[in-house]
Amino acid sequence: MISIKEKIEQLRDTIRYHDKKYYVENNPEITDYEYDQLIKELQQLEKAHPHLITADSPTQRVGGEPLTQFPAIEHKIPMLSIDNTYSDKELKEFDQRIKRMAGIDAHRDIEYVVELKIDGVAITLWYEKGLFAWGATRGDGFKGDDVTANLRTVRQIPLKLESVGRKQNAPPVLEIRGEMYLPNKEFQRLNEEREEAGEPQFANPRNAAAGTLKLLDPRITAKRRLCIFAYAIGYFEDFEIETHMQCLELIRGFGLPVNPHTRVCANIGAVIQYCNEWDKKRNDLDYLVDGMVIKVNSLPLHEQLGATSKAPRWVISYKYQPEQAITKVEEIVMQVGKTGTITPVANLSPVSLAGTMVCRATLHNFEEISRKDIHVGDHVVVQKAGEIIPQVVSVVKEKRNGTERTFQEPTNCPECKGAVRKDGVYLRCHNPFCRAQAKRRIQYFASRHAMDIEGFGPALVEQLVDKGFVKDYADIYYLKHDDLMKLERMGEKSSSNLICAIEESKQRNLDRLICALGISNVGVHTAEVLSDRFDTLDALAHATQEELEGIYEIGPVVAKSIIEFFQDTHTQHIIEKLKTAGVNVRKQKISTSGKNPKISGKSFVITGALQKYSRKEAEIFIKNLGGRILSQVSKKTDYLVVGEDPGTKLDKAREFHVHILDEEALEKMLQ
Ligand code: IVH
Repeated sequence: MISIKEKIEQLRDTIRYHDKKYYVENNPEITDYEYDQLIKELQQLEKAHPHLITADSPTQRVGGEPLTQFPAIEHKIPMLSIDNTYSDKELKEFDQRIKRMAGIDAHRDIEYVVELKIDGVAITLWYEKGLFAWGATRGDGFKGDDVTANLRTVRQIPLKLESVGRKQNAPPVLEIRGEMYLPNKEFQRLNEEREEAGEPQFANPRNAAAGTLKLLDPRITAKRRLCIFAYAIGYFEDFEIETHMQCLELIRGFGLPVNPHTRVCANIGAVIQYCNEWDKKRNDLDYLVDGMVIKVNSLPLHEQLGATSKAPRWVISYKYQPEQAITKVEEIVMQVGKTGTITPVANLSPVSLAGTMVCRATLHNFEEISRKDIHVGDHVVVQKAGEIIPQVVSVVKEKRNGTERTFQEPTNCPECKGAVRKDGVYLRCHNPFCRAQAKRRIQYFASRHAMDIEGFGPALVEQLVDKGFVKDYADIYYLKHDDLMKLERMGEKSSSNLICAIEESKQRNLDRLICALGISNVGVHTAEVLSDRFDTLDALAHATQEELEGIYEIGPVVAKSIIEFFQDTHTQHIIEKLKTAGVNVRKQKISTSGKNPKISGKSFVITGALQKYSRKEAEIFIKNLGGRILSQVSKKTDYLVVGEDPGTKLDKAREFHVHILDEEALEKMLQ
């Protein structure tokens, strides 16, 4: 029998292992559900034995209360910057300079390590006896901000260094340096969320990463998927290394991500070739790379070369020019979001930029238009920020010919003509019946991460609202087959499919419904948190500000949005309509392993046509009872559910001795 303490440590190690598989290696071995079960088990054990909680436990990433400020921290070894080069010629000069200074023959090769230069924020991490002690930003290179609480929330940063498979155990002290960044996708998600909440958007992923690191409330940092690539050891005791590449291997062995595109180049010629190769390829990555960093591989040579007061002599960066183009602003149009935020967008003469044709650019808000002095008809420099959203960088004023028109900030909503009000830097339409807002809300309600109504896309929503069939999202559930048949490009079959999809969506679990309602500041994750806490929509609707704020992860702003949403009489009316239509407003209890051992935690694959249910329905039943649905049969599959014309999955299931269920057997099990 192992002790509770050992059991807890075993669980923590298992979770750390899966954290690394998921967050560092992008190669998970278990499902989210299985992972959540491990976390829950650990949380329960720690709750029952609080004296066994340690700071490096995976449950302790988000600490207590928000900070009021960041203490300053002096760097033991200054965090110097790097000299920049912009051409092959300058790289060759760098190579010659090194040889001269180190007294190396001009014809001999120097070995370099070439790394991607990640466009993020430099940080330093200190580990003591293998445990994450503190971390700080670069600041002015000598003093930075202590952002430990925020860094602890970053799942790629191990709270305890991995020490498996290495000769050395964790060193007494170790400083690791690296670059924090936000992946482009996460940056985009964050900006969409901020637009919805009426908050100013981040200009690019670097600003977003810097802003996230400087949040005083680590609970908010935890929700953003900050990432890191470690690129150097700053300070270490007790182990011997000869090359920079060995440093990177060590860091990787400790469990931190090291960029996989790092390469050892035998000489400066190979360095130049590799740098040029990445100028083209960097746009394919999900993070911003603004150049390459070239480092002498030999550490004794680092010692010999030393540093100037600004930068070490053994490293240089090769910077890429940001891709820009000049084009004309044809017109400025307005977009109305689901909460009424009005965003100006520039329609551009199409221009090729970083491999794609660009014909629109967001102007973010009206203050930005006046700050950059953008007129309709202006020629502007456009650039891809985060290589995703094209941005207007500046106006080419020399190209003006007097025909350009200033842009008038609207005083009315472009869609419903209702009055608009200023809300920070944003303009907002406050008409609850505004058609444009209604369309965005309905689209969001039916979208994949909300009620997931298959076939209910933006073009359909346009028609349904314009024709007056749907005014709010509850009206979706009152649509008739005949109404749909009156729409363009809608046949008998697609209309029936849509009615089925609408009907099926009534059974979605409470978290999806909460998300679909479109409450300001409540996205997928917050909706899950709320449905964990409240069993019914009514219970949430009646919650007080204090009750909501008492929930871990819910702050005063989100709590206020929820209260205001449910107090609105128009909203109350829509919710009543949803209930009358039979939309599920309760949490469907998922049976735990103790209650339904046959299904809970087991994996199912469905093949062939089922008679009594649609495949989707069968999937929902299984999922609601705690089972998992997989698409392919493997040795690990528990059950194959077989309908008519099963295909090759049946052969595979037989080969792997997977239990085979026909529809009747499945039904028995579900009951
Ligand atoms: S090495 C003393 N390696 O670029 C050398 N820096 O412009 C320390 N950066 O402050 C830096 N990727 O924030 C290094 N692979 C990489 C990097 C990298 C991004 C950043 C770092 C540094 C800045 C200098």
